Amino acid sequence: MDLVATPLHPLFAARITGVDLSKPIDEGTQRAIERAMDEYAVCVLPDQHLEDEQQIAFSRCYGPLEMSPGIGRKPGEVPANARIKHREIFDISNLDQSGAILGENNPRAAFMRGNELWHTDSSFRREAATWSMLHAKAVPPAGGDTEFADTRAAYDALPEAMKRRLEGLVAEHSLWHSRARLGGYVPTEEERKSHPSARHQVVRRHPGSGRKALYIAAHASHIIGMPIEEGRALLAELMEFATQPQFVYRHKWRVGDLGIWDNRCTMHRATPFDVTDHVRDLRRTTIIDTTPEVFAG
Ligand SMILES: [Fe+2]
Repeated sequence: MDLVATPLHPLFAARITGVDLSKPIDEGTQRAIERAMDEYAVCVLPDQHLEDEQQIAFSRCYGPLEMSPGIGRKPGEVPANARIKHREIFDISNLDQSGAILGENNPRAAFMRGNELWHTDSSFRREAATWSMLHAKAVPPAGGDTEFADTRAAYDALPEAMKRRLEGLVAEHSLWHSRARLGGYVPTEEERKSHPSARHQVVRRHPGSGRKALYIAAHASHIIGMPIEEGRALLAELMEFATQPQFVYRHKWRVGDLGIWDNRCTMHRATPFDVTDHVRDLRRTTIIDTTPEVFAG
């Protein structure tokens, strides 16, 4: 069976069927997924029951992988019975390493609440992320969905005067800026040093499609060369515009879904669920953007 992409939303996002990622994929399939991603920016591949090693192997087809820093855990702590053994896997769950549900006051639970803000993965890094892949191992009966916003369509819909205003603007992105918004998680000095801020153009050209996209979201703290409050107000205005319902696809996870999104032209956020009574175990791999920053022009 050939790979089939079925749109999930009028502007972006598609379901991809006809491929089994538990086995190595051929060059043609690899490129077909890349073409679908360039067009749709968010793709969901259902019924992929993958071990962590299989998810890592598939992710590596598209570039080097980011390593999980284990924020909220004790430094150097790698329990022998760790639930997740690979640093290439980011633990997007409400579980501790032994598989028990985290208490609400656990530092990692506080850190994870940052995922409920609209964000793009790793925009606080100079070498940020191209794609993220999230594999659903366990999902709660209600809530815990992921919303995605299309920042190419949002850019296209901006008034021309705003497009001109954004030309050449650069934003500073910081992980601690987004975490401070919700309160709760206080980073250690070592964590602060290991995650310095990064600067990116507010409008960038998406390489695979050639379309311009907004690159903003929760980690974007302020605009370089603009008074802090003025830059924040502009970023807030853009966020409000780009997350209007017509630009948003909401995905309800099923066990076995592999969701892939392009961080360069989408934003996403988790929706709340009952974190103390239900398990949500999703595992993320993230591909590092090693290409030089592509400026819009
Ligand atoms: Fe994320």
